Amino acid sequence: MEKNIHFFEKPGKENTDTLIELVKIRKEELNIQDIVVASVSGETTLKVADAIKDVNLVSITHHAGFREKGKLEIDLAVNKKLNNMGISTYTSSHALSGVGRGISNKFGGVTPVEVMAETLRMISQGFKVCVEVSIMAADGGFLPTDQEIIAIGGNARGADTALVLTPAHMNSIFDLRIHEIIAMPRP
Ligand SMILES: Cc1cc2nc3c(=O)[nH]c(=O)nc-3n(C[C@H](O)[C@H](O)[C@H](O)COP(=O)(O)O)c2cc1C
Repeated sequence: MEKNIHFFEKPGKENTDTLIELVKIRKEELNIQDIVVASVSGETTLKVADAIKDVNLVSITHHAGFREKGKLEIDLAVNKKLNNMGISTYTSSHALSGVGRGISNKFGGVTPVEVMAETLRMISQGFKVCVEVSIMAADGGFLPTDQEIIAIGGNARGADTALVLTPAHMNSIFDLRIHEIIAMPRP
């Protein structure tokens, strides 16, 4: 079997529109029913929703307190807009850092889950993010764990990486399967 991977020259937000077009094509090819998007502000999810219609769309934000204690980064009006469009939004502890980050912040060193995250970042930031938000969305009950989905992630803002994967819950993380790389920045 031969499949294409689109390599972006550089990571970052400027790849978002092309990435979404590529996702749209692969979604049709594989008849994918679910897409999860990492979107701190909701902006990337709105772009995906604009381009791709007939799909279960799940939008994952940073956990409250990521930047400032007790504060969510997504504007509540945007969150509501997404919900009114039929898009599920979800905020929870980050699957690939979680309490482990609190432990390493306090005591130094590194926890196994943070090593997993850094290993996935050897491919791209967005690659790690795709895996992470898929676990989070599956644990929130928004994604199947027995079907292929598309996950979209990026480098701080926007999107530059998309994977076809079968999600898993955090308690069976090694069941997660990455089937295809649709696009990513070339490391
Ligand atoms: C749960 C979560 C974890 C993320 N982790 C990282 C990360 O480790 N590295 C990174 O460059 N971006 C990370 N991001 C940012 C995303 O990859 C993506 O670029 C961003 O959510 C897009 O948000 P926007 O729609 O507001 O532009 C993360 C986002 C979320 C929601």
